[in-house]
Amino acid sequence: MSKGVGEAPGKILLIGEHSVVYGHPAIAMPVEGARARVEVDLARDGRIEIEAPDIAQRAVEGQPTPARLAPLQRLAGSVRELFGEPGVGLRVCVRSSIPVGRGMGSGAAVAVALVRAICAALDRKLADDQVEELAMEAEREFHGTPSGVDVAVTARRQAVYFVRGRTPQPIAAGESVFRFVIADTGIEAPTMAVVEEVRLARERDQARLDALFWELGSMASVAREIIRCGAPAEMGVCMSHAHAILKEVGVSSPELDALVHAALSAGALGAKLSGAGRGGVMIALVEDTAAEARVAAALRDAGAVGLFSAALSR
Ligand code: MEV
Repeated sequence: MSKGVGEAPGKILLIGEHSVVYGHPAIAMPVEGARARVEVDLARDGRIEIEAPDIAQRAVEGQPTPARLAPLQRLAGSVRELFGEPGVGLRVCVRSSIPVGRGMGSGAAVAVALVRAICAALDRKLADDQVEELAMEAEREFHGTPSGVDVAVTARRQAVYFVRGRTPQPIAAGESVFRFVIADTGIEAPTMAVVEEVRLARERDQARLDALFWELGSMASVAREIIRCGAPAEMGVCMSHAHAILKEVGVSSPELDALVHAALSAGALGAKLSGAGRGGVMIALVEDTAAEARVAAALRDAGAVGLFSAALSR
């Protein structure tokens, strides 16, 4: 029987984490150097089995399902139903180089890759928005009340200006190349828990939190123009200011602040946490490849356990 492969990249949020949950715009882009890859083999027995060797977990129908794989098992069932193939068995192998729980969209990427792999195995096609809709099913189980930005950027594989509930708009970069160094604190911070803490903080102090979210949202709109005009130095200022606001929201951590400080001291144009915060990754914008090497070395010295890079250009 036939085999299908699906892939999807990780992501970083350039501006707008948390505020995007409350309807403000955000800007996100894919990180092609960190990817989820899912292989699906069809079987005749109607069973869905999922193997994730990277995290040493396996889900076999009829046996207790590990919590991390349960949303994927249900998603695989939904895709099979959608295509009217309930009797087809699926043997799924999930691999990913996107660190889990670090704000790089690993859950969304795995969900999108899974939907694509099943489509390929069954020789069916879905439009991007249908893939996103299906992947959101698993994303809601992973994250509770996700804005949808992670799924949008990983499914579209391009930088987007995203507003919850609206069609994501591709971001057109101007002449300049925007180079990012991404550094992992090594601290796993589940998005669902951090988003819930922010919700509770907003319940206690709505006026203050809404003002901070409004500022982040306005900066996302400004940043879109800055990217269009090709002005990395201005983008750097925006990013560092966004980090200061996210600190006020209460989602930074000493480790993230230390990496942001190290990147700026090594000459980054700007730096901020990216994703839900509390742990996970931070991003630094650098001027050129020489600055990239310098900032990456400084981040490693300051304790980063993993480094990635991404570039946004025309
Ligand atoms: C997404 O990567 C980060 C948050 O904004 C949550 C969301 O948008 O669903 C914190």
